Parts: sequence; C-alpha cells; structure tokens
Amino acid sequence: MQRRTFIYRAALAGIAVQLPIGADAETPHSEFNRDSTADEVTAGLNLTGKTAVVTGCNSGIGFETMRVLARRGAHVIGTARTLEKGKEACGKVSGKTTPVALELTDFDSVVACANVIRTLNVNIDMLILNAGIILGDWQQVNGIEKQFVVNHLGHFILTQRLLDRVTSAAQGRVVVVGSGNHRDAPEGGIQFNDLSGRDWYRRGYAHSKLANGLFSLELSQRLARTRATSNCLTPGPVDTNIRRDLPASATPPNLKSPTQGAATVCYVATQPSLAQVNGEYFADCNPAPQSKQQTDRAMATKLWRMSTELTRRHLI
Ligand SMILES: NC(=O)c1ccc[n+]([C@@H]2O[C@H](COP(=O)([O-])OP(=O)(O)OC[C@H]3O[C@@H](n4cnc5c(N)ncnc54)[C@H](OP(=O)(O)O)[C@@H]3O)[C@@H](O)[C@H]2O)c1
Repeated sequence: MQRRTFIYRAALAGIAVQLPIGADAETPHSEFNRDSTADEVTAGLNLTGKTAVVTGCNSGIGFETMRVLARRGAHVIGTARTLEKGKEACGKVSGKTTPVALELTDFDSVVACANVIRTLNVNIDMLILNAGIILGDWQQVNGIEKQFVVNHLGHFILTQRLLDRVTSAAQGRVVVVGSGNHRDAPEGGIQFNDLSGRDWYRRGYAHSKLANGLFSLELSQRLARTRATSNCLTPGPVDTNIRRDLPASATPPNLKSPTQGAATVCYVATQPSLAQVNGEYFADCNPAPQSKQQTDRAMATKLWRMSTELTRRHLI
C-alpha cells in the first residue's frame, strides 16, 4: 500500500501512524529550474493551517521564503537576531507571521527562542534552518570556529528542542539550507580533533555547510520511523547580504535574485510529491549530486555525537 494511502486510512481510523520512510521511494523530479522563483514553485498551493519556522527571516533567502510561505497561507514564525529586526521583517509581509528573537551564537538565546515557539502551541509543518554567515577572517565563539557555531550548532539545539512539534505535524519537514560549497570543506571533512578553526578557518564556511548536510542526513535516519522528513538543499549563488564581510572579488557572477534563491527552499518545504522523500539533497528544485563526504553516514553519526556533547547543557 502507498504510504500516503496508509496514512489517510490510519488517520480516518484515528490511530497514530509510525511508518518507515520507503527507502525505495524515488525522488521526484520537477520541471522547475535555476530561474524558477519561490512564487512560481508554490503557485496553486494552499498552506492555510500550516506553520513554518524560518530562521534568518529578515534578509535574503529567509525573507523571501517567509514572504512566499505567508502569501500561500502558512503561519510563518520568523526569527531574527533581535525582536526589532524580526518585527520589521514581518511587518513587510502580507499574511500571518510571528517574529521571535534568535541569536545563534548565544545558546541561551536558542533555548529561549525554542521556548517562545513552544508556547505558541502549534505543530511545526516546516522547520527551515536558513540563517547563516560567511566570514572572511578567523572568529570563534567559546573557542569554536564561529561559522560552525552559527550555521550548525545553534540550529542543532533549535531542532532538538522543537523536534517533537515537527514529528507531531501531519507531515513535518526539516529543511536545511546548505550549500554547494560543502565540497570545499577541509581535507578529511569535519575537523573532529580541532574545532578551533586555527588551521582551516579559510574553509570554515564550507566546513559548516558540510556539517549542515551531514546533520540533515543523520536526522533523516533518526526520523525514519516517523511521518517527518529532513532534507538539505543548496539555493545556488544568490544576491544577498551573505558576502558582506568578503571582498567584492569573492562574489561570483550570474547571481540569482533572492526570490529565485528561495525557490528550492520553498519547493522542498511544500511540494506535496516530496512527502516521502527523506535524506535527499536538492539544487534548482531537483535532486542533485553532492560530495561523497556529505553522504558519509559514519561521519554524520560522529558529528551528531560530537554536537550533542558540545551542546549538552542546552539540550532538553
Ligand atoms: N546567498 C548565497 O549565495 C548562498 C549560497 C549557498 C547557500 N546559502 C545559504 O543560504 C542561507 C541564507 O543566506 P542568505 O544568502 O539569505 O544571507 P543573508 O541575506 O546574509 O541572510 C542571513 C540571515 O542569517 C541571519 N544570521 C546571521 N548570523 C546570525 C546569528 N548569529 N544568529 C541568528 N541569525 C543570524 C542574518 O541576520 P542579520 O541580517 O541580522 O545578520 C540573516 O537574517 C545561509 O544558510 C547561507 O549559507 C546562501
């Protein structure tokens, strides 16, 4: 029986559904491409009654994602580093939005953000881990390279603290905004023996984006007996604020617009045909090749264990 049919029948019968994600489920392809916009890939969808959390809602891809999901009827809980920034961003968007403060370098702030979201008493249909930074120099947070902290560890805590709300949604999705840049991670991948960044900070962004991909992979395994899924994607090169700390020469040509950049995010978060797709990697609204390291299950499991150790005090 199709997994979806089973879910409907089980729901009608009023029983809880605990289904394995079909390992044989082929990832559907779409007609969308590099030029598609978030508005186009969500055209015709009615997201009324659904709730999305979007981190980094005040800028670039996160803002466009929030705008379009709210336009389609979803309630979007948008996080920004300050409540003021979140309010300002939400004020620019039509539809139902709720701003929440989230500063990913401060794990107490991550816990507080999760607690605020929990008090809203909603299931989370889409948990979109979008906020991120690229640094041009070596910076640390409590001795750990900063991009790894912001792009990976902060989101690791947030996800753990909200995961029960995702798994209790009809079909919850964790959507991890990674990057094609994960291929440039330091030799050996995740630097388990030295997270200081001293010897590899120039590849620190790629290192953190590899961590995003591996996090999604391990999470997909852990969600395998639930209705929820986790997938990672690259938005492609997009014209946003993310390169603000880099020299102009670091900006690649032919950037996508922010709404083109948000297309794959919105596609993976909402496309009905992806309900059973778990542990996949997408680019331009289609399944995409990734590095061998980003599919390394042993590395993914090891990263999960280390992340748990590093954030233990802030996990539930
Ligand atoms: N743009 C690209 O070419 C590209 C390519 C591949 C992947 N990506 C990924 O796409 C995602 C979105 O980036 P973007 O291009 O839209 O960049 P952006 O315009 O700079 O937006 C990044 C968002 O993250 C927030 N943020 C930064 N540091 C944070 C912190 N410490 N705590 C909480 N939030 C923080 C920013 O808040 P502030 O505005 O307050 O700083 C902003 O809302 C990132 O994960 C990035 O790695 C982007």
